[in-house]
Amino acid sequence: MESNHSHSQSHDHLLMERLLLRLAKKWTAGHDIEAALTEAKACNIKGQKAILNYLGEDYTDEEKISQTIKEYSTLLERLYEDKIEGCISVKPSQLGLSISYDLCLKNFKALVTVAKSFEEFVWIDMESTKYTDNTLEIYLTLINYYDHIGVVLQSTLKRSASDLLHLIEAGGKVRLVKGAYKEKQQYAFQSNDDINSNYFKLLETLFDNHNLRSEDVDNGILRFAIATHDTKLIEYTIELWKKSKANIKNFEFEFLKGIRDGLKKDLVEKGFRVAEYIPYGKEWLHYSIRRLMERKRNIFLMARSLIQP
Ligand code: FDA
Repeated sequence: MESNHSHSQSHDHLLMERLLLRLAKKWTAGHDIEAALTEAKACNIKGQKAILNYLGEDYTDEEKISQTIKEYSTLLERLYEDKIEGCISVKPSQLGLSISYDLCLKNFKALVTVAKSFEEFVWIDMESTKYTDNTLEIYLTLINYYDHIGVVLQSTLKRSASDLLHLIEAGGKVRLVKGAYKEKQQYAFQSNDDINSNYFKLLETLFDNHNLRSEDVDNGILRFAIATHDTKLIEYTIELWKKSKANIKNFEFEFLKGIRDGLKKDLVEKGFRVAEYIPYGKEWLHYSIRRLMERKRNIFLMARSLIQP
């Protein structure tokens, strides 16, 4: 009886792993750099730019951190050599922010020096609130060295309205997202309505200030990115763009790989700048679970395939 029970448990476990792997295939590019670059080229063929992320976070092992810097440096070189329209997106806790601010800043400086030599763009992802202050501080330091860098702000956070004004004043480039981390009420809006209405407000701030640096307006330099799959926010962005005098190339829509492919295509056809965030690497499990939890329907789909052979 007991062995039957443990047999079915390990069977369930195997099934679960296989299903997660199937979802990971949809949402990530594969295990290595070649798979990521192949995906990036496929993206370019569809008229989209690629944002490459080497999966991993919260590193405290310095060996792992230096390996990560090497990986991103190789990526930058390959983007340049293979003439891929793309960039990298890095989590500060991959570069040592879980150990110390100084170490992380030093590592980012090294990586940005490589990016500068190839004239490639670097995004800094935003993680949980324990890292927000340090991430913004690192970003504001780095843009003194190289201005082809952007940072993420989350509409979930109550502080983002003031952070956005500060970043705009400093000439920063922002990717606006809702936020993927569960945060305390003290720091973050809890209801979807509040998170969305903050997103609307932040969008208005972005468009109101888009011509802060008038020299960028005509030459189509990226000023900010709208990273959401939410139709009403995308439609509102288009409305704001129509009312503003922003160059259609001064901002871009960003999506995650494997989500809303039809919408991406539609926006490309309308002449908008579209980029796809492509994670790759061996640490796909954590990322896939986060995406899975984001949407009740995904869990339902997975549960249904568990009971259907
Ligand atoms: P929301 O989750 O409300 O979804 C709106 C609609 O989009 C859904 O109703 C559905 O139609 C569709 N959709 C959303 N998720 C789906 C899924 N998994 N499968 C199928 N359909 C789905 N976060 C962060 O904290 N720091 C960061 O640095 C980044 N970086 C980043 C880059 C890019 C390019 C993107 C697109 C997103 C991020 N994020 C992020 C993640 C972001 O904060 C957020 O968790 C997800 O984008 C999901 O939120 P939406 O804005 O899509 O809205």
